[in-house]
Amino acid sequence: MPSNILVSVAWPYANSLIHVGNITGSYLPADIFARYQRLAGNRVLMVSGSDSHGTPVTVRADADGTTPLDVYSQFHLGFLELFQRLGLTYDLFTSTHTENHFKVSQSIFLALDQNGYLYTDKQKQWYSPTQNRFLPDRYIEGICYVCGYESARGDQCDNCGTLLEATSLIDPRSKIDGSTPELKETEHYYIDLGKLQPGIVEFLRQREDYWRPNVLRQSLGQILADNLHGRAITRDLDWGIPVPIEGWDEKRLYVWFEAVIGYLSASIEWAQLSDQAQVWHDWWYDPEARSYYFIGKDNIPFHAVIWPGQLIGAGKWFAKIFEEQEGDPLNLPYNIPANEFMNLESDKISGSRNWAVWGLDFLDRYDPDTLRYYLTANMPESKDTDWDWQDFLNRNNNELVATWGNLANRVLSFAYKHWDGEVPTPGKLRPADLEIIETVEKGFQSIGDHIEAVRLRAGLIEAMRLAAEVNKYLDQAAPWFEIKTDKAAAGTSIFTALKAIDSLKVLLSPFLPHSSEQLHKYLGYDEPLFGEQYTETIADSLGDHQVLRYNPVGASGRWEPSQLLAGKKLSKPGPLFRKLEDEIVTAERARLGQE
Ligand code: MF3
Ligand code: ZN
Repeated sequence: MPSNILVSVAWPYANSLIHVGNITGSYLPADIFARYQRLAGNRVLMVSGSDSHGTPVTVRADADGTTPLDVYSQFHLGFLELFQRLGLTYDLFTSTHTENHFKVSQSIFLALDQNGYLYTDKQKQWYSPTQNRFLPDRYIEGICYVCGYESARGDQCDNCGTLLEATSLIDPRSKIDGSTPELKETEHYYIDLGKLQPGIVEFLRQREDYWRPNVLRQSLGQILADNLHGRAITRDLDWGIPVPIEGWDEKRLYVWFEAVIGYLSASIEWAQLSDQAQVWHDWWYDPEARSYYFIGKDNIPFHAVIWPGQLIGAGKWFAKIFEEQEGDPLNLPYNIPANEFMNLESDKISGSRNWAVWGLDFLDRYDPDTLRYYLTANMPESKDTDWDWQDFLNRNNNELVATWGNLANRVLSFAYKHWDGEVPTPGKLRPADLEIIETVEKGFQSIGDHIEAVRLRAGLIEAMRLAAEVNKYLDQAAPWFEIKTDKAAAGTSIFTALKAIDSLKVLLSPFLPHSSEQLHKYLGYDEPLFGEQYTETIADSLGDHQVLRYNPVGASGRWEPSQLLAGKKLSKPGPLFRKLEDEIVTAERARLGQE
């Protein structure tokens, strides 16, 4: 029975370009996982979008002298381009600036209110006397009162991960003009996390045995060390989603409160676009459905504590408000395999210092699978890792090109040349032939297990180990010499190698979809392995928005060993990857830190 798998991917802030650290942190692992699950026959819904509200976007608009809408629209289009070129197969990549998302977010807010999980309170908020306005938490910087880190943001400390009370920051200063803010009273809605704590703890305990330790530490561990208390979920801002309560039209929902709701609203939007308005229920109400949230470690508290609290608190009331009918409580996250960070040449990635490798810029010089390979091989699954240009070059040339690309290329070219462009007819398979086929076929279990458990690095390493085994087999069988004395024996070896490569193509395809698709064509298949990505413009009362989508029609890939038949027509082969020149290392290092 196919399972329903929701692949929830972090929503990039529509205020800055995406770099390799963001890609390996959440977007790429989500795609590898989603592609695998589809090949394995499951029903995948992979959603995300641009996180378009809140102060990250208004800060940028202020700095650029433009509007938040402009900032969001520009960056959003860049994300669509990058994700399409990288082959990230979102079933829907939308944005939080949609009529649907407004409605779903407001419904969650109202459901929490109905259930008694919201309250209002007056609080002191930093106010800028120089600008005559309240300063959102993100506009404030100061010293973290937990760990002493110097540049903690008002909402969160990037050093120790603590969600901060902005008013308690030490030595606060305005990020806009550096001036010292003063505290002034304002009224806000709060989510009563204290009241939700028992439900949140129960939810976490049920997942304790299989979650990553860093995720448990920043959720269950923190709650047990320090009880939860109410958090304000509205802000004095004008860019964002209105608070759906009379008399509150000056205020907006807090961006983190509504952005996480995007996983739900995007699922609903996808269902509407698919002309099956109710089909999102299969991922959100079916108790057997599983949801995986791919995020970076700085997002853990919002996804592992607050978002489950929002879902628990909304309960059945969400369905009553949103669909005007009885419904069930919404499904809680099944797993949140958050990644650590990737550094660059041993230094923290920093957009403002241009100490970054930017996704789109990279793709102007290199191929998408080259990036996917290096980022997966170095994925920060359990500790921070480092992007190093020399290491990048070595891995591309010695692993991707030498171990895998050359293997596929020399076998295909040899077969194409000596057997009239067809898969040779083998004689009886010899023990060594049977053995290598079996070795590769076992990969469907072992690599599948790794990907299921979101050990993507291990999955890729295992697939490359199998490719190396096939190289060893060929070195021994040496069909290039065999053919001079015994063409039939060489044909048996080449048949065996082609079959192994045909399987490896599938095993590597979640990681390296572009080259696997290419190889699939060389092997003479007509139907593609994967479906198609495309963009679409959606009419919306807030202004049209563009989305990225994935259409699975025509996809023929299955997570199954090769069924290659003798006599199958091959296509004229070519190389799968490019060897890179040593010079790129110095050239790329020289680009870093430049304006
Ligand atoms: N925009 C946030 C970031 O890039 C992630 C938000 S995930 C969401 O860190 F689900 F809350 F949108
Ligand atoms: Zn801190």
